[in-house]
Amino acid sequence: MRYQLSLFPFQDIETVPEVETLRPGGIRERLSALLAGDLDFRGAETGYASHRFHSFAAKFPPQLPRLFIQNLTEVGDTVLDPMAGSGTTVVEAALLGRRGVGVDLDPLAVQIGRAKTTGVLWEDLSRAARRTLIRAHQWLQADRSGKLREFRSRLNDATRDFLDYWFLPSTQEELAALMAAIREEPHPGLRRLMLLAFSSTIVTKSGGVSLARDLAHSRPHRDPEKRPASALDLFRERIQRYRQPLLAERISPGDALILHGDARSLPLGDQSVHLIVTSPPYANAIDYMRAHKFSLVWMGRPIDELGQWRSRYIGAERTQEDEAILPSRTWETVQAIAEYDPRRARVLQRYFTDMRRAIQEMYRVLRPGAAAVIVVGPSMMRGVPVETHLCLAEIAESEGFDLVGIGERRLDRDRRMMPVSAHSQSRSSIELRMHNEYVIGLVKPEER
Ligand SMILES: C[S@@+](CC[C@H](N)C(=O)[O-])C[C@H]1O[C@@H](n2cnc3c(N)ncnc32)[C@H](O)[C@@H]1O
Repeated sequence: MRYQLSLFPFQDIETVPEVETLRPGGIRERLSALLAGDLDFRGAETGYASHRFHSFAAKFPPQLPRLFIQNLTEVGDTVLDPMAGSGTTVVEAALLGRRGVGVDLDPLAVQIGRAKTTGVLWEDLSRAARRTLIRAHQWLQADRSGKLREFRSRLNDATRDFLDYWFLPSTQEELAALMAAIREEPHPGLRRLMLLAFSSTIVTKSGGVSLARDLAHSRPHRDPEKRPASALDLFRERIQRYRQPLLAERISPGDALILHGDARSLPLGDQSVHLIVTSPPYANAIDYMRAHKFSLVWMGRPIDELGQWRSRYIGAERTQEDEAILPSRTWETVQAIAEYDPRRARVLQRYFTDMRRAIQEMYRVLRPGAAAVIVVGPSMMRGVPVETHLCLAEIAESEGFDLVGIGERRLDRDRRMMPVSAHSQSRSSIELRMHNEYVIGLVKPEER
């Protein structure tokens, strides 16, 4: 599937930030200089283009991929994020005239990434949204629960129970009418963007139409006192946020591709990529499906099926029983945790084994001489610090990469919101974990 971005409507040239441009030099020199430079992007505007269309836990600031893409690739090159999340790298690659490719296991991430790189005109979107809202209103007036009855007749008991626990009956009626009206939109791009707006009324930092509190960034808590806003009103408001100045003629030619897939077996050819910029899950940090299922059930996914997906995510609560082949520092880190909590150590072992496979795949798809940039933070497990960046750097070297350097960035905690893990014991341990993160710079050696 290809999305031409010639009509990409979301770039406001006035607000797209400038990032540093280095003088020419080899990839290693440039990468090394970038890693030593400012990677904090404190106070930078991060909401330009389509970057703020939907909440996503642990997004990185768009300036981060932009800096590396601009300085390490040429127009027309292919830039990959094998754990693309909300598609920040892919959007930035497209804005810079590169070919952005994103892969993610999470079905909502794929939807978000595709919608954020879809080219439609604001006039068309606002007209389609108006039509959709009128249709939904008419259905609700004619038979308030008609569309909900239709929708629920296709669900299994567990999914119906889930909806009843987390959504008021009146909200369900509105969401079912809205979803049915969106589905009537024949243009796939407009439909995709309206589905994104629909989802963003549910998975959101505050407010939101479910009974959950702060669905975007924390473990959902049901608040029986919550009186959610009208789903239709919130949808209208979200669509308005997608309004950006249209500067289609200033967009460089480029395209974006978002694939549903696994970073451990990438659906891409050998040596087909000029740069990787990615941010894998932290060890033991985020359960994406916990929040995303609130939206995905409305897209027709059975709740029990979504639960089963969980175990496939890197960083999931899953142990590894068999022997792992891990390099020495990484293995020692696992052993240090095992002294306090053998089960947790097996979860960590699984994380590193999965990341090792993901790194092998990065190596395979990269062209010789090209760079991979991996952004990751440290974690704390049972009071033992896990220096994930050092372990991943060690794994990458053992897989053939040259380690050019490790940059450090201080987190703007308010911006890159990190959810509270089920296993973090106290505020101080969160503070410790989420303090800073690291940017690992790797190069695949030229063939000899
Ligand atoms: C930290 S997030 C990436 C955020 C992204 N940089 C952004 O700006 O939105 C990590 C992503 O890795 C994805 N992921 C976890 N396991 C994966 C796997 N096996 N294959 C591909 N993606 C995976 C998660 O679904 C999540 O979207």
